[in-house]
Amino acid sequence: MESFESKLSHFRTVINERLNEVAVNAQPASFYEPVRYVLEGDGKRIRPILLILACQSVGGDINQCLNAAVAIELLHNFTLVHDDIMDHDDLRRGRITVHKKWDQATAILAGDGLVALAYQNLLKTESDRILEISKIFTEGIIDLCEGQALDKDFESRPEIELNEYMRMIEKKTARLLMIASEIGVIIGRGSQKEQSILGQFSLELGCAFQIRDDVLDIEHSSGKSYASDIRQKKKTILFVHALNHARQNDRDRLQKIYQKPEINSNDIETIRSIFETAGSLSFTLNQVETRINNARAALNKLRLTDAQHDLHELLNLILTRKN
Ligand code: IPE
Ligand code: IPE
Ligand code: MG
Ligand code: MG
Ligand code: MG
Repeated sequence: MESFESKLSHFRTVINERLNEVAVNAQPASFYEPVRYVLEGDGKRIRPILLILACQSVGGDINQCLNAAVAIELLHNFTLVHDDIMDHDDLRRGRITVHKKWDQATAILAGDGLVALAYQNLLKTESDRILEISKIFTEGIIDLCEGQALDKDFESRPEIELNEYMRMIEKKTARLLMIASEIGVIIGRGSQKEQSILGQFSLELGCAFQIRDDVLDIEHSSGKSYASDIRQKKKTILFVHALNHARQNDRDRLQKIYQKPEINSNDIETIRSIFETAGSLSFTLNQVETRINNARAALNKLRLTDAQHDLHELLNLILTRKN
């Protein structure tokens, strides 16, 4: 049997080939060059891989769902380009962000274009349920925008409850993974039950993914700007936990730093050590594990085929990811 690693690398090659064709030789350069730049970046391609695995897990094959897989990656890349403007970030996938390399107008347009290119590819899907697929895709985008709005709103709120945080990450991140697998199941002609189970699986996986992402913010190896969330006063799970569980004087220090107009490098290290002493880091890593276990439990409701075995492997990948 082919190893999971070689399957992943095969999927990535196929997806990257298709992404490279999306804007090849197209004009004007002011629109297509930044689009090509984004698509050439070294992304993990988790969402299209999830869509393909979901499709295969119900008996479908990659040729049926490749257009939709490409579409979901294009859509994801749109969210990254606009997210980097919203979060004032300079670095993405180890390279300078689009609005920094060019300017904001260029990045807004490239992002807009990526949404349209995503639909263009999605609509190439041959399925008698294309209307339903498009509806799921569209509603996913609306939820994602709601999630991004909450994420921005929370920057200026001093306190956020854990359940508010969870609702926000479900929308801004997990919904996209959820629609990837739902669309994969529909194209693969899976049942309603399979769609719902794999949807639930991906929602849990997506939350684990974002919680892990919050920790990557304060690790040095992620290819993104270090401690960007802290500088931007994001209410990450680390912050939410620390504000409720740190010693009183650390809570005061945390709040005081978050009230400063600008957070400097010393502040960042102070905050990191508060996260550690308050147990926020271990709490967060535990949460990643819990959500991964929830995803595993969802998956176990299905009869285990080879492709479902691959979905279990995907969970391990998320659990141990370093970027
Ligand atoms: C980054 O997603 C945005 C989040 C939802 C955390 P990925 O970590 O999948 O980014 P790439 O595509 O691999 O660069
Ligand atoms: C990810 O949020 C959600 C979307 C991009 C929609 P983040 O802002 O945490 O993602 P990164 O850390 O910049 O990749
Ligand atoms: Mg961001
Ligand atoms: Mg963001
Ligand atoms: Mg992040």
